Amino acid sequence: MKNLFTTTIASLMFATTLLGAGKKNEEKATAVINADQGEYTINRQIYGQFSEHLGRCVYEGIWVGENSPIPNTNGYRNDVVEALKRIKIPNLRWPGGCFADEYHWMDGIGPRDKRPKMINTNWGGVTEDNSFGTHEFLNFCELIGAEPYICGNLGSGSVEEMSKWIEYMTFEGESPMANLRKKNGREKPWKVKFFGVGNESWGCGGNMTPEGYSENYRRYATFCRNYGNNKLFKIAGGANSSDYNWTEVLMKNIPHWMMQGISLHNYTFTTSWGDKGNATGFSMDDYFKVIENGRKMDDLISRHSMILDMYDPRKNIAFVVDEWGMWYNVEPGTNPGFLYQQNTLRDALLAGEILNIFHAHCDRVRMANIAQMVNVLQAIILTDKEKMILTPTYYVFDMYKVHQDATMLPMTVESPDYSRMNRKIKAISSTASVDKNGAIHVTLINFDPGNDIEVACEVRGSDVKEVTDGQIITGKEVGAYNTFESPYQVHLENFKGAKYKNGKLTVKLPAKSLVTVELK
Ligand code: AHR
Repeated sequence: MKNLFTTTIASLMFATTLLGAGKKNEEKATAVINADQGEYTINRQIYGQFSEHLGRCVYEGIWVGENSPIPNTNGYRNDVVEALKRIKIPNLRWPGGCFADEYHWMDGIGPRDKRPKMINTNWGGVTEDNSFGTHEFLNFCELIGAEPYICGNLGSGSVEEMSKWIEYMTFEGESPMANLRKKNGREKPWKVKFFGVGNESWGCGGNMTPEGYSENYRRYATFCRNYGNNKLFKIAGGANSSDYNWTEVLMKNIPHWMMQGISLHNYTFTTSWGDKGNATGFSMDDYFKVIENGRKMDDLISRHSMILDMYDPRKNIAFVVDEWGMWYNVEPGTNPGFLYQQNTLRDALLAGEILNIFHAHCDRVRMANIAQMVNVLQAIILTDKEKMILTPTYYVFDMYKVHQDATMLPMTVESPDYSRMNRKIKAISSTASVDKNGAIHVTLINFDPGNDIEVACEVRGSDVKEVTDGQIITGKEVGAYNTFESPYQVHLENFKGAKYKNGKLTVKLPAKSLVTVELK
């Protein structure tokens, strides 16, 4: 009798464990899309990238030089170029970051073996040999089909230096700088639209007050000329995270005709700047904190936007989030100044969360740059000498490219909660858009790591007929990541879990996943 009892309890416990581990609960959510009420365009420029002279981002990540054994085209590594072309990167920010305010562009032109070297004081104190300069960057942008976004040196450079850089890059006719460019092998000017006047001038860019920066901006920007058809889109260096006073002082003190954009830098940390957490091997509490902290971007944009709306109600000035992403402790054993970190499914979920927030604010947020493109912070690509892998975040940019320049559609979701540590967040984040050919793309994210959610979504005001495509990003666990040995743990796959009938889209959204479906 005793034995039978013990056996029964043991098998019950075994069955419960199996259920807990293997079979998930399925929750329900409802949603509505108003497909005939789209008003604002999701500017493709919010899918921008950032490449600083930092660690192995530019050197090794992009540039290996013509004589490298790594397969390359004119010095740019082929595997990286091919991967970048696939996701249609709209713009690329360079040369920094903090590096920009110590960069003297004239050191990076002319024969490479004659270029002076400098110390990269911000990032590891390594020697920068200037072999990747203006020509190498702008030709790279042409190769991958991205618009260059140059950040000028306001912190330690002169007005004359900044002014001459623009003349060098964009003036077509006869002039000292245009002639120098031609002598260096480039006859025609490049097209350079996006130009940042300094970086983080409240910190590494000069430790200025907002009043002091505004005065400097007015002076420097005056001499950033438009030559011929090249019209600059000048971006004022904006606030650090929740420094609303910085935004307000700039909006008051800089004439609006002098700036087309104002920026924001905001990174996400597991807990705080002082407790960044690890990129891999994290606890489920840390997973929750990251997703919860990601929501702060919404609050920040709303509050900065209120200030912008007060001074610029017609929304002429774009809000440019030109540095965003996850910032963790560096990978053990790597140079602390190189900011190299791994990238898991958690980061893909975070990237989707933030891109959805940008979509929701696309009337004002018209440009953004994730930090940084290769081998630094929340990189979309990692390299190890001749090897290259795509991170989970890369696949988010691949999945989301259908939203570029599409019209954002109003969408609401009644979502179950995902709770932990007596705190809760909405388990689902969503966005929808309609492209120029009338195809609707709906992206749903399920942050809940344990429960699938069935979403019943009414699509109002449209005559779509069916689900024509579907893609998913998920993994065995939220901590799953790609390595050089095992590069496809997390990637983009076909998704078949959606149906459309009589105006109703039903999506079986797996736990810890991002899904995009296409309706036509
Ligand atoms: O992206 C790394 C650094 O973070 C940038 O150089 C700087 O602008 C920011 O503080």
